[in-house]
Amino acid sequence: MWDKVQETVSYIKNKINFSPEFGVILGSGLGGFTDDIIIEYTLPYQEIPNFPISTVEGHKGALVFGTIGSKKIVAMQGRFHFYEGYSMKEVTFPVRVMKYLGVEKLIVSNASGGVNPRYKVGSIVIIKDHINFMPEHPLRGKNDERFGPRFVNMSQPYSVEMICKAKEIAQELSIEVHDGVYLGLQGPTFETLSEYRMVKILGADCVGMSTVPEVIVARHMDLETFGVSIITDIGDEASILTISHDEVLEAAKKAEPQLRRLIKELIVRG
Ligand code: HPA
Repeated sequence: MWDKVQETVSYIKNKINFSPEFGVILGSGLGGFTDDIIIEYTLPYQEIPNFPISTVEGHKGALVFGTIGSKKIVAMQGRFHFYEGYSMKEVTFPVRVMKYLGVEKLIVSNASGGVNPRYKVGSIVIIKDHINFMPEHPLRGKNDERFGPRFVNMSQPYSVEMICKAKEIAQELSIEVHDGVYLGLQGPTFETLSEYRMVKILGADCVGMSTVPEVIVARHMDLETFGVSIITDIGDEASILTISHDEVLEAAKKAEPQLRRLIKELIVRG
């Protein structure tokens, strides 16, 4: 894994002369964020050695390199989900690559279902902690100390400093934000009513199918990490009757302008 990561990093460094400080994983609801970037290079995933091969036809995926203000960033346009059939090592491979391209701070976004009664469709939730309910762990297997320690401290997976800064920015820009605990399930089914209830009982505020593995691997390598979620549906009797992928995308799109402003400012001030 170490050699593969370094090979990929060398390829990218040879191709482009660019060392990003911020990494951003664009989930549903932040796809348009690439419009906020002054783009310098775009590398389609299929051109990058060792990147997971997309099994989805017409799947667009690329690493986008550019600047926001004076900050250099790399954004993942499209992520790899465990439910697509990738192993956890594949799902998290790009995060390892970002680290050795120079990234120090990782921003991860997603869409999720809300179980906290204060949330509405379109609510922006700053992730303050997570519960890993994925069936495979990205750090399972022999540990390579060059990446990080065998036993990773997960007492503060989401940077308290970045959370504070994001809340300050939200207040200044009059963007309503919540904070909450994200629970990761493998999907691809949306939850049953009883599963949403379980999520709530377990102590989470929202539930989704991504983010947790990426954040674990980021913390393994000591990246400072910030996570944000758009609530695209509510896990109650009324809403789950109609939940669909289209509904998720539509709800995410509505919240996108505000989330973009928030993330942009977080990077500019970072
Ligand atoms: N559950 C899981 N993943 C999701 C949801 C949900 O309700 N909404 C968006 N992604």
